[in-house]
Amino acid sequence: MSHSMIEVQNLTRVFRTYKKAPGFWGGVKGLFNRTFEDTAAAKDISFTIQEGEFVGFLGPNGAGKTTTLKMLSGLIYPTSGKARVAGFDPSKRENAYRKIFALVMGQKNQLWWDLPARESFVLLRAIYGIPEAQYQKTLDELLDLLDVRAKLDVMVRELSLGERMKMELIAALIHRPRVLFLDEPTIGLDVISQKAVRNFLREYNRRYKVTILLTSHYMADIQELCERVIVIHRGQKIYDGDLSAIEAGQGTKQKIITFEPAAAETFPTHWESKHGKTTRSDDGKFTVRVPSDQVVGVSQEILSTGPVADITIEDIPIEDVITELFTHAPKSIS
Ligand SMILES: Nc1ncnc2c1ncn2[C@@H]1O[C@H](COP(=O)(O)OP(=O)(O)O)[C@@H](O)[C@H]1O
Ligand SMILES: [Mg+2]
Repeated sequence: MSHSMIEVQNLTRVFRTYKKAPGFWGGVKGLFNRTFEDTAAAKDISFTIQEGEFVGFLGPNGAGKTTTLKMLSGLIYPTSGKARVAGFDPSKRENAYRKIFALVMGQKNQLWWDLPARESFVLLRAIYGIPEAQYQKTLDELLDLLDVRAKLDVMVRELSLGERMKMELIAALIHRPRVLFLDEPTIGLDVISQKAVRNFLREYNRRYKVTILLTSHYMADIQELCERVIVIHRGQKIYDGDLSAIEAGQGTKQKIITFEPAAAETFPTHWESKHGKTTRSDDGKFTVRVPSDQVVGVSQEILSTGPVADITIEDIPIEDVITELFTHAPKSIS
């Protein structure tokens, strides 16, 4: 029997930002009469997540994803509404709660920069009071799953971005949390490392039934890992359901091919692929969006048109997918 692990009810967080009129007199005026603006970074968000679910948390930049994950982690307080995770109220910041969840932020690191990862792990073992045998077993397993055993004694600052993120994941999981909040864990990683992290998360979720809420910049992460997605836009939940329903949108089935001709004159400025128009940026690079199943064909077409210095194939950024989805067909969803 499954039971709910995360329950969020009307969760709201308002940020107040003070504004200062420009110039000296603006500053003086501000001393007496501070003007401010309240923005709801999260507004009346409600959802329930069952134990063991792997849910994608989507929304354009500034939608309120990080704010929500921070509230669920007890890092910031809600203005109103409530959250319960594994029966705990995160805002109480109880030690017992700390022991059962972890938050990983792709843009922040919790590992000590000037130490080998091993030493950070030892410190975390002490902080969480993990029994030695369990610690060794967990560490061994994670090192194998993520294939970074050889890097354990390398100074963290000397690791590649991908290796560092793998170590961050080990640090987050060393106390065997039951709930994992992942805020853009693959951002900036090369394609190989993204894949490795993704495969690891899938396996880990399957093996331990850990409940995971994942935000990502890359649609591929969500597509490969999550059946269910929650979409927020301007702080409000606008969709909660199967990913497949929003995949009907074009963006998820397309890729972006970017290439740079070896010599400027080999491709005309308005070169058109048979599959779509290219756009040319100031630095001479061409970009074209094509359906995923035509990537190979279009790549061949490009390469047979003229020599290229560089060619890359990328997913459409989630932001664009969501924006297109909810600006073109706001009613067809939810
Ligand atoms: N500490 C803060 N003070 C004021 N505004 C904030 C703060 N943190 C976030 N915001 C604002 O809240 C909104 C949501 O931000 P965030 O949760 O980081 O979005 P996302 O993670 O979806 O990109 C943004 O408009 C952001 O500028
Ligand atoms: Mg964010």
